[in-house]
Order: sequence, then C-alpha cells, then structure tokens
Amino acid sequence: MARPWALRVEHLDAPLGLTTPVPRFSWRLPPGCRDQHAYQLQVGEWDSGRVESDQSVLVTYRGRSLVSRERLDWRVRTWTDQGASEWSDHGWFEMGLLAPEDWSARWIGPVATNEDGSRGPGPAHGLQRAFTVPAYVARARIYATAHGVYELFLNDRRVGDMELTPGFTSYGSRLQVQTFDVTRLLEPGTNVLRAIVSDGWFRGQVGGCRMSRVYGDDVALLAQLEAQWVDGSSVCIGTDGTWTTTVSPIVAADLMQGTTVDLRLAARAGRAELRTPRSAPGVRRVAVHEYDLRRLCGSPAPPVRRVDELAPISVTRHENDQYVIDFGRNINGWINLRGAGDREAELTLTHGEALDQHGDVTLSNIAAEPTAPAYIPDSSKLTAEFQVDRVTVPAGAEALSFEPRHTVHGFRYVRLEGASYPVELEDVRAVVVHTDLRRTGWFACSDERLNRLHDAAVWSFRGNACDIPTDCPTRERQGWTGDWQIFAPTAAFLFDVAGFSAKWLHDLAAEQSADGLVFDCVPNTQPSELYEKLGIAHGSAGWGDAAVLVPWEIYRAYGDRDLLAEQWESMCAWVDHAARSAASRRHPARARQRPLPANHDRWILDTGFHYGEWLEPGEWDLRDIEDNMKALAAADHGELATAYLHRSSRLLAAIGRVLGHETAATRYERIADCTRRAWRYEFIRDDGLLESDSQAGYVRALAFGLSPAKHRQRHANRLVELIRAAGTHLQTGFLSTSHLLPVLARTGHIDVAYQLLLQDTEPSWLAMIDRGATTIWEAWDGIDEEGRPRLSLNHYSKGAVVSFLHQVTAGIQLLDEAPAYKYFRIAPMPGGGLSWVRAVHDSPYGLVEASWRLEEGRFHLEVVVPSGTTAEVRLPDGQRHQAGVGPNHYVCPAR
Ligand code: BGC
Repeated sequence: MARPWALRVEHLDAPLGLTTPVPRFSWRLPPGCRDQHAYQLQVGEWDSGRVESDQSVLVTYRGRSLVSRERLDWRVRTWTDQGASEWSDHGWFEMGLLAPEDWSARWIGPVATNEDGSRGPGPAHGLQRAFTVPAYVARARIYATAHGVYELFLNDRRVGDMELTPGFTSYGSRLQVQTFDVTRLLEPGTNVLRAIVSDGWFRGQVGGCRMSRVYGDDVALLAQLEAQWVDGSSVCIGTDGTWTTTVSPIVAADLMQGTTVDLRLAARAGRAELRTPRSAPGVRRVAVHEYDLRRLCGSPAPPVRRVDELAPISVTRHENDQYVIDFGRNINGWINLRGAGDREAELTLTHGEALDQHGDVTLSNIAAEPTAPAYIPDSSKLTAEFQVDRVTVPAGAEALSFEPRHTVHGFRYVRLEGASYPVELEDVRAVVVHTDLRRTGWFACSDERLNRLHDAAVWSFRGNACDIPTDCPTRERQGWTGDWQIFAPTAAFLFDVAGFSAKWLHDLAAEQSADGLVFDCVPNTQPSELYEKLGIAHGSAGWGDAAVLVPWEIYRAYGDRDLLAEQWESMCAWVDHAARSAASRRHPARARQRPLPANHDRWILDTGFHYGEWLEPGEWDLRDIEDNMKALAAADHGELATAYLHRSSRLLAAIGRVLGHETAATRYERIADCTRRAWRYEFIRDDGLLESDSQAGYVRALAFGLSPAKHRQRHANRLVELIRAAGTHLQTGFLSTSHLLPVLARTGHIDVAYQLLLQDTEPSWLAMIDRGATTIWEAWDGIDEEGRPRLSLNHYSKGAVVSFLHQVTAGIQLLDEAPAYKYFRIAPMPGGGLSWVRAVHDSPYGLVEASWRLEEGRFHLEVVVPSGTTAEVRLPDGQRHQAGVGPNHYVCPAR
C-alpha cells in the first residue's frame, strides 16, 4: 500500500540541532494518487487527528512547546483519491539548545600575545581537554560554535563532516551553533576533545578590501559535550578555564590570503602531547570570555561540505620544481594533496582562475594591482598574497592526504612549487566546497553549446554558495544583495535554496538600519571609511530591493509563507525608506530644471546612491573606480530607482494580501500606483518612447509593467530596433540582462530572444562559452580575444539567462497565485533551431517535467505533473489543456 514519503522538517531532511520553536512538516503524496483530501500528523505524542486539507508542504506543528535537546519521531498518513494511506516511515528531528541558560560552557580562547597584535593572518589554535568516560555511552552530543572557523576532533578523529563552521552570519546579532552526534566517537577511558580555531570570517580578511578584524580581535570557542552513559548517569563537559591551548600545525590561516601549514608539527601533535600537564612547555592556559549567548541560533540551511572531488585534466611541468595543474573547471574549494616525496619539502600552491600567455597561473584578474588605490582603507592587506597555501611536508610522508580546511579559494588552476618529486595526475585533487544544497533542476537540449552554458550557470552558483550567496568566490566573496536578487529565481529552480536564502534574509533584516536602509552586502563587509572616501552610500536601487524580491521568490518557489511573515517588517522598512526618500529629497538637476516641484515629484526616487544599471557593455571600465563612483554618486538614477520602488511596493502589496495585512497592502498598492503614474509622466516622452531610450530602459519598463498598454508594443519594437542597431547584441547591464529574453518572448519577439541567446560574438553568452568559460564571467570579455583575463570569471548574475531555458524554452512556469508549483503552467516556446529539450524540476510536490521534440513537422510534448498539483498546458499552436497528475502527451503542428 502506498504511503507518504520524502519527509522533511522545515527545509531540511532530518535536522539535528533545530532551534525553530514551531517547526513545519512536509511530505510527498503516496505515489500514484492525484490529490490529498486529508492528513493526520503525529509528532512525538502530538496527534493532529484527521485534518481535512490538501496541504502537504510546510504544515505547522501544533503540539506542546518543544524543549532543548528533545528528539522526536514523526509520521504522517493521508486520505487521497486512492483512499486512506498507510502511515509513512518515521522521520525525526532533534532540537538544539534553545536558551542561553542551556549553556554551562564558557567562551574560551588563546591568551592574546604580542604576535597576535600583528596585522597578518593569525595561526590556528589548538584548544583541548582530556576527560574520562566511565562507562559505555548511550548518547552524546556536542554543541559548538566559534568566533573564527573551527573544527573538532574527538580522540584525533574528526567530528562530523561540516566545513568552515560556524559559517558566515552577521556575528553581532546571529551566530550559528552546530550540533554533532558523537555517540560513536567516545570510548571508555581517557578521551581528548580538541578544537582547531582560526581567524575565519570573524577575524580574518573579508570583502573586496580584505578588511580584517571586522567582528573582533580574538578568536574564541564555545563547545559543550553532553553525554549519557548506559547506566543512566550523564556528564556535561563545556569549554572553561580548565582547557589548554597549544600550537597547531596551521601556522597562519586566512580565508582569502591562504594558509601556511607545517605538517612536521602535525606529526608531533599526537594525543600524548595533549595529555601533558598544563605546565608543560607549549601548553598554555586559556582565556575565558563573556560573550553574548543570546545571538546563538541553529541554521535553517544545510551546512558547507566537501561536495565533490575533481581529478586534474592536466599537470604540466614548467620549471624544475614548478607545475601547473588544470582541474578543467572553475570551482570554489581547495586541493587534496596525496603525493609526497621522500624528502622534506616546502610546497607553495597558488590558486587562480586563468593562465597568462606563458601558460602560468595568473591572478591579475582577481587580485589587486601592486599599488592599491589610496581610497582603500588598509591597502597593505589588499596587496598581500592572495589564494596562496604553503605546506611544509616532512620527510617520509608517503601516505600524505592533506587538505587546507581553514581557507577556501576560487580556482581552476593551481601552480605547485617546491615539489621534490615528479607530480602526477593522481597526486592531487580539487575538492569542491560549498553549501550542500539539494539539486532540484536539470536542463538538456539538442544544442551542446546551450548545455555548456547551462552547466556554467550551475557551476557558477555552486562556486558562489559558500554559506552565503556571493558575487564571486575570489576578489570580494561578498553577499551583494543585487547579485542574489538577480539570481535567486534561477537558483531556486536548480537547487533547494529555501533555507539558504532564509538564513541570509535573517541577516539582512538584522543589519538593516533603523530607518530601513539595506546594506549593499549581507553580512555587511563594506568598510564605512571606503564609502566616505568614495562619497557613496548603501541602499542602491535594485540591490536593497533584495529585501522584498528575495522573500517573494522563496515564497513563490517553496510556498514559505512564514518567511514572508518573518521578513514583513524588514520589507516594509525598506519600501518606506525608499518612499520617504522620494518624498523628501530631489535630485539637484531636477530641482534646477523644475524649481517648483510638480505633484508627481514626491513619487520620483532620484536621490541616494545607486549603482544604476551597472556594467552595460562598453559603459565604463572598472579600473577607474574612484572616478566612476563619483560619477555614479552625482548621476540622476530617477528612472531606475523609481522603477524599483514601484516594483517592490507592488510586490509588497501582494505579500500584504497573502499575509492578511489588508490596510498595509492598500497603502503599498497606492505607492505602487503613484510611482507608476509618476514614472510614466516623467520618463515617457511625448512621442511615447522613453527618455532613456536604452535597451535596459525598455526591458525594465516592460518587465515591471511600467509601459502603458498603449505603448507596450511600441516599447518592445523599439527594444528590438536597439538590439538590431547593436548588430543583434544585448546592451543591458547587471540589472536588466536577466529580464531581456523573457520580455522579448512575452512581447512577440521570441525569434530575437533566440538570436540573442545564440549570438556568439561579444557581448554574448556563447562568446563566453566558446572561449572556454566553465563558469559565468563578470565581464562579457572576461577572457578577451588575445586570451587575457579580465575581472572575475565566476560571477553568476548573467547566468540568470538559463531561467529562459527553464521557463520559456521548456516552458515550466511558476504562478504567483499558486506557490510551490501547486498549480503551474507549461508553455514551451520552441525556437533557436532546437530539435529537442528536456527540463526537470524537483518541486516541493515532486518532479515536474517538460520535454519536447520536433519530429516530422510535429511538436511532441511530454509533461509530468506531480501528485497534489495540476498544470495548465499551452501548446505553441495556441491550444490549451489542463494536465492531470502523471505523464501527459500532446502533439501539435510544428510551426
Ligand atoms: C561586485 C558586484 C556587485 C557590485 C556592486 C562589484 O564589485 O562584484 O557583483 O553587485 O560590485 O555594483
């Protein structure tokens, strides 16, 4: 008998250390059924009884309050068109520590020494304690977090498989705690619990300016081991003044700069040494700190892990002891070194995304110039080594397997220097490291180049999902709000990014200033001195709007209404801030031109600092940042900023309706209407065309519903004229590129959309692919015709074009009114010479599939609809059908 399956708690499978007080449960309907009429949920002793409902995604727990540490089993059964199901298998979840009082451990860290006062990366510190286990262990957990990055070892065995813990959050307000099940790692007798703590994001370099000590000067550890023995007694061993610190083999570690590791020290740092008395040389007492425990929280996202390993595609010997290793694709991660000679060696590993004209690894595209510009707050760090690991390998380390786990790099190539042995392909691997997100979206078609483009977009996201969504895994590694706003809808098709986004949004809200301003990067790693020197400010239109656009997308893709409720205040604060700015200030140019404000002026947002459309092809060169920022600060971005205020307030009104905040919804609707009217009044010329008359302007007007109905086609046609005038090339920048092809498709220009998609001269996606891109570039000429690299080669934003492949080419469309694909549309628009296409999305209800092929003048479409959902199918010849659960097949004449 069929039963519900794929049980999930919150957005995770079986969370250990959950701190959400009222969790939600999801399941998939028994295979073969059409829809659910009722369910019964049992969580611990709570029984929902039979509930008449078709809800199977994020069903709220309604039992008694959950308490710290408790582990509950849960199961569900359903009544569907097939009758009553069996009970599902048991799922489980375990609560973490919910209150500061749950912690008896104290914060500890190394006692600050003179060398810690230096500016460079600090060493990783060993912090340890030995203890006796009197009996067999029934259950043991470690709850841990750090200021810095930590890893734990019990009796020299690594605890868990999470990397770069505790992850990156806005540490002043939120610090993630990891929970580890260590039942099997404890042994009767003497045990040693040891942590290695390095600077991480807390104290090490962060952001494009490589600022360090952004969150504090000292690394620290908080860990609590709670164990129960089989005889029923228990023990709690927390970090406290009895712990000791020793040096670790990691002499220096920084996430951006790299790490220096002396493996000769590792050979000596065995268990025996850790048990030496506290007075022994090299063993020091720890400092005990009082840091705030109220910030501690679990993570709604999966952790960062080693997700993959890549073998090199080539190892080339350059000089005597110098090799260039090519891993075939650009990734985020580190290397695994397996080979070693029989002599002691000092290896230097330099990680880069590109090769120079001599075939050597270059960092010219991602590292700072030798003389950093004066506006950078501390330029000495900016010009320090970048992505370089140094490893001293002792003689006789044949069985070496080394990974530098306290740093992380964006790279495809590694220069390996100092090897005393001939380096072979099997001596090294690239380890792909990122948030261990569940893959949910796939696409393939008859055009290999488009498949490679899709692959590059997937890998660009993988390279930029290291606990936070970043712009690039190299130069800046910052959670730029605009970048995630642009890519989140694409990512939500490809991977389950619900928890990952929620985590980031919580930080966005935590950091938002009292007046509603949203910082450009979350967590904010942009130094205020830099902003002052450049005369710029946070809260750029299209960036800060992530506060509204991202929660809305996550709601659409996963049906997470509670996330909307959690973010409601933050969203309103952002839109209110923008509306207030519009009402209270005017751009000097507009004020000069119209000294007496017109009625609509109060709805024009033309002040504040805005990046604008950003990086339109040939617009400007990132090298002249200082001048460009000054120009941006002085420019009138009224058209763009007002358009985003309209867009965000329109969505906020819809969100208000979802949440039942009717009064607020009406207020935001008014802002949306007034800004639209003002925008039309101000930015549409008498002849109906736009003042800006640019590709980006028309794309935005059409995508955001700003073009009046009577001008819509005119605007679309003008867009096409501009594309033709550019030789059938796009000229949109960062913000509008993702909307370009969908807008063309919706306005009757699907042929032009495919021509741009398949364009292979610069600027175009396929020019990138043809020049060997394995991830999406920041600049269209990321590798120029001479093969020189420019800017980051791993910036996912332009990769959002693959949403066109999912939503238009394959035609899988989410609908606003039925989130999580409860009711969706399949409306493929064939073109581009494609003869077949297949897209699959693992939605919250199950697999959605759209595949088509052209055969003997006919268009064949296969649609798979998961249980619990229905779909509307629109065929290219205009036919419409309602598709039921299971496989559906349609045929129409190919046009
Ligand atoms: C980043 C972008 C970001 C931008 C702000 C760049 O340096 O890499 O992706 O959004 O600054 O305009």
